[in-house]
Amino acid sequence: MPTTLNKIAKQGDNGATMMPIIQGVGRAAIEIAAVLRGAVFRGALGGAGSENVQGEQQQMLDVLSDEIFLDEMRSTGFVCAVGSEEQEELLVIEEYSHADYLVLVDPLDGSSNLDVDGPVGTIFSIVKRKTANSERPHVSDTLQSGQSVIAAGYVLYGPSLMMVCSVGAGVDGYTFNPASARFELSHADIRIPETGGYYSVNESNKDKWLDGMGDNLDRMKIETGLGMRYVGAMVADMHRTLLKGGVFLYPADEKNTTGKLRLLYEAIPMGFVMEQAGGKAMSNGIAVMDIEPEALHQRVPVYLGSNTNVDSLLG
Ligand code: AHG
Ligand code: MN
Ligand code: MN
Repeated sequence: MPTTLNKIAKQGDNGATMMPIIQGVGRAAIEIAAVLRGAVFRGALGGAGSENVQGEQQQMLDVLSDEIFLDEMRSTGFVCAVGSEEQEELLVIEEYSHADYLVLVDPLDGSSNLDVDGPVGTIFSIVKRKTANSERPHVSDTLQSGQSVIAAGYVLYGPSLMMVCSVGAGVDGYTFNPASARFELSHADIRIPETGGYYSVNESNKDKWLDGMGDNLDRMKIETGLGMRYVGAMVADMHRTLLKGGVFLYPADEKNTTGKLRLLYEAIPMGFVMEQAGGKAMSNGIAVMDIEPEALHQRVPVYLGSNTNVDSLLG
């Protein structure tokens, strides 16, 4: 009998409470995958004609994925609010505003890949509210460091549909089996290789990187001899780094002076998974998981991957 997402209920201290929410993520993933696959026939590729709070052009699929994800979180009954890349403010789920958990999400990661049929993803993390259940959830409930994250993971819309997640008891990968129409455990207890793999970065920005990171990368390349791969969708680049080893980085640069990737729904969930798989996630000289968030859409530099490679890059 294949193992399904039900495995999560038996994992760690929080598996049982997290399972219904992660199953909701799984339903959203199946629906988003179907929308992505049929998008060209529904005229759903291209811009939505709107900007998100970060001044980025929203794609129609960013907006659709956000709606689908929110609906599935609502349907769990355990989520009081969602903080999304595509929503300026915290979105309170009125029917369940007394519930215990908040979800942070990048509903569609790597959307510049959409027009070229490249891989994209969804990234999520789950925290418990700090405000009393009788109060209305507040954005301050999302401003918790990675140390408070209870569960996190990502979905990869690639040749197969995968979900990789952790409830703080290691990392498992589930692949959607079209024959049984459910996620089945395909990658049990993922551990990142101690070294090897690839370095992954948009190297065209190197001359503009801050913090001397250009010199660091040059030194690391000589030290490790790693080859390079870059998809331009964090989920796909993270997934390869997790399975093959190496290092993924997005440093601060002259344009993105505090970094490009978002702390709460990109850096922290990926940092959580990376550490749970035995790897490392750093930013500005401290662990990503130790950053105290100040704003919902805050950006940070990110360096994550195999311990030895991250050390070699930052050392
Ligand atoms: P999003 O599509 O959610 O805005 O995220 C894009 C991010 C991330 O997926 C990727 O690692 C990075 O942007 C790529 O940026 P560059 O195109 O600057 O390399
Ligand atoms: Mn993203
Ligand atoms: Mn996105």
